[in-house]
Amino acid sequence: MAYKVVPGRPPHDPWSVGLRVRDWEAWYDDAGLRFGWIEDGGERVGAITWVGDEVTQVLGLNANEPPEDASEAALMWIKPRVLAAYSFQPGVVAAGHRQALEAVGEVFQLRSALDPAAHAATRDATPVSAADAETLGPLYDQVFKTKGGRRVVWQFFDRHEGSQGFLWRHQGRGVAFYADRVNPNRDVQVVWLGVLPDMRRQGFGRRLVAAGLGARAETGHRQAVTQVAAGNTAGLRLAEAVGFSWEWTKTRLEAG
Ligand SMILES: CC(C)(COP(=O)(O)OP(=O)(O)OC[C@H]1O[C@@H](n2cnc3c(N)ncnc32)[C@H](O)[C@@H]1OP(=O)(O)O)[C@@H](O)C(=O)NCCC(=O)NCCS
Repeated sequence: MAYKVVPGRPPHDPWSVGLRVRDWEAWYDDAGLRFGWIEDGGERVGAITWVGDEVTQVLGLNANEPPEDASEAALMWIKPRVLAAYSFQPGVVAAGHRQALEAVGEVFQLRSALDPAAHAATRDATPVSAADAETLGPLYDQVFKTKGGRRVVWQFFDRHEGSQGFLWRHQGRGVAFYADRVNPNRDVQVVWLGVLPDMRRQGFGRRLVAAGLGARAETGHRQAVTQVAAGNTAGLRLAEAVGFSWEWTKTRLEAG
């Protein structure tokens, strides 16, 4: 087999690579996603997508699992550029492990209808923007165990027009934050939700989501989407608790 990856534009027919995205090109541009076809002797057998240093999907055509050696070839091709791979497909996960990519697992796409009555906005959250990167950056780093949170926060709000963020203060200190943006199809994309480790399970996460989605519902948005990695039990349970449900089928993975 002589697989190779050919970078290109995403196709117009989203079903051809097995994903349900209504405005496929806009979704890519908005998310900073890159796209490449996996070809076998000139014939397309699948596609790979990545953003920054993470592979987000390796897809077979017509919603099929890509041949495992095609996944492996695609990940080998991209490996100099990426550190991590996420996928719904066991074969891709197995290939990722063989490639020693840092984090490989399922990512669930979740969706929620925004009923203004059900998402009554809470007024207790403080709106934040790029100007608050100094405050939010250190919080971001503590929650996501990163460095450089200030820059990440500043860039997010600066680059995504119409993004919104909220900070939750408790006894005078910022303990949790939330950010979302609006996708081109008007879906609200929840991008971050973080609560300081010692402040969890006190309802701050839930209240911040209510603040964010409540504000969006009040301005006429009717759907929200988000992504949560399979191992993130707290993130998944919270998403379910505030009304998100699975958009894509879960796959049980046997990593190895
Ligand atoms: C996910 C996270 C934001 C939850 O925040 P939180 O303030 O602890 O959540 P809440 O107290 O509002 O919990 C609301 C509901 O979510 C569910 N939940 C939250 N954490 C949970 C956990 N560790 N285990 C099981 N269920 C959990 C529960 O149903 C909970 O309701 P209950 O306490 O009445 O049972 C927090 O754990 C966090 O910051 N994690 C790291 C960052 C992250 O993964 N963010 C999400 C993806 S971007």
